[in-house]
Amino acid sequence: MSEHNALNLIAGYSQALAGKHELERSGSDFYEVRGEVGSMVVQLHPKRLSLEVAEIIEETPTTKTLRLVAADRSALPPFQAGQYINLFVEIDGVKTARPYAISSSPTQCFFYDLTVKRARGGFVSGHLLDRVEVGQRLQSSGPMGTFHHNPLFHGDDLVFLAGGSGSAPARSLLLDILDRELPRRFHLIYVNSHVDDVIFAEKFRALASRHSNFRLAELITRPPEGYSGRSGRLTRELLQQELGELDGKMFYICGPTPFNDSCVELLTALGVPRRRIRVEANGAPKAPDQQRGWPVGVALDDEVQITVRGRGSFRSKVGEPLLNALERHGYFAENACRSGECSLCRVKLVSGSVFNPQEAHLRKSDRDFNWIYSCVAFPLGDIEIQL
Ligand code: FES
Repeated sequence: MSEHNALNLIAGYSQALAGKHELERSGSDFYEVRGEVGSMVVQLHPKRLSLEVAEIIEETPTTKTLRLVAADRSALPPFQAGQYINLFVEIDGVKTARPYAISSSPTQCFFYDLTVKRARGGFVSGHLLDRVEVGQRLQSSGPMGTFHHNPLFHGDDLVFLAGGSGSAPARSLLLDILDRELPRRFHLIYVNSHVDDVIFAEKFRALASRHSNFRLAELITRPPEGYSGRSGRLTRELLQQELGELDGKMFYICGPTPFNDSCVELLTALGVPRRRIRVEANGAPKAPDQQRGWPVGVALDDEVQITVRGRGSFRSKVGEPLLNALERHGYFAENACRSGECSLCRVKLVSGSVFNPQEAHLRKSDRDFNWIYSCVAFPLGDIEIQL
């Protein structure tokens, strides 16, 4: 289905488009139809979606794809390949959420595939993999995020470096190109620790064999004995050999944080300008104490007191991101990326100090007025915040 047809499935879209063209002809600034424009914006960018699990696809021993449809079976809002939705869940009384990249093609709008890999000690991934069943209802945000192709600036020669479940947005970008027969090249360098971990292995290989504009390079970092495929770490030499001339290529990176960091380092060492590299953030850092600026003498296990002005207080650990701690104690802060990018989880720091890791994309005004992004803020001692 073409992009245009997909949009036409949204109730009222074609009428709104016709109205917009009429207003453009008459020179309107849309002021007089602000209500209509607003309601169309809400349909295209809804705050919350009510979804139902239509199918669960076993991908690997540790990964499943949840195929989600609109609970009322209507068309879902369109998205750009590479975007995510934030899935809201309640687990043993704790209300929380996690962003998951959509792995399906944006050329259809009747389902979103979310490919969930079991994270070690993962609170939400374990719940989704072990307890969620077909027919279950889930709430999510609308599609969000800026990790997608920009036709004005990114060009047509795309390279995606995926680590593990980072292949989810890669699949969506690839399917978008192939379904719409776009004149783009897509080169996927797909790195996994173990052979059993490789998600979409057969699907990617089949597509690579049928489409000359899709090239797949697989790498296993911990191969079993006798493994005949390519193995070892991703290196500069391997990238050079695989990619040849780097000029004009646009790079997308998605995987665990150490993988992302090392890919950026390798590409930078090869002379790729930073503006040609897009990295998808991947949650709060697991080891903030390893980052520059972490204060001497503060341990992740230290206990601190969190006071929510006018509401109450509780004990937490320095190493737990503030948003997770708030949710565990029944407080809610709006959130989406949970990676320090979207700023939705902003809370005011009234007293005390927090560690803002490199992931926190705070603006100058946030710093000037003591706003912190709770999803990636680590309390360094007792703090008071305002929600
Ligand atoms: S949820 Fe996006 S910055 Fe915290």
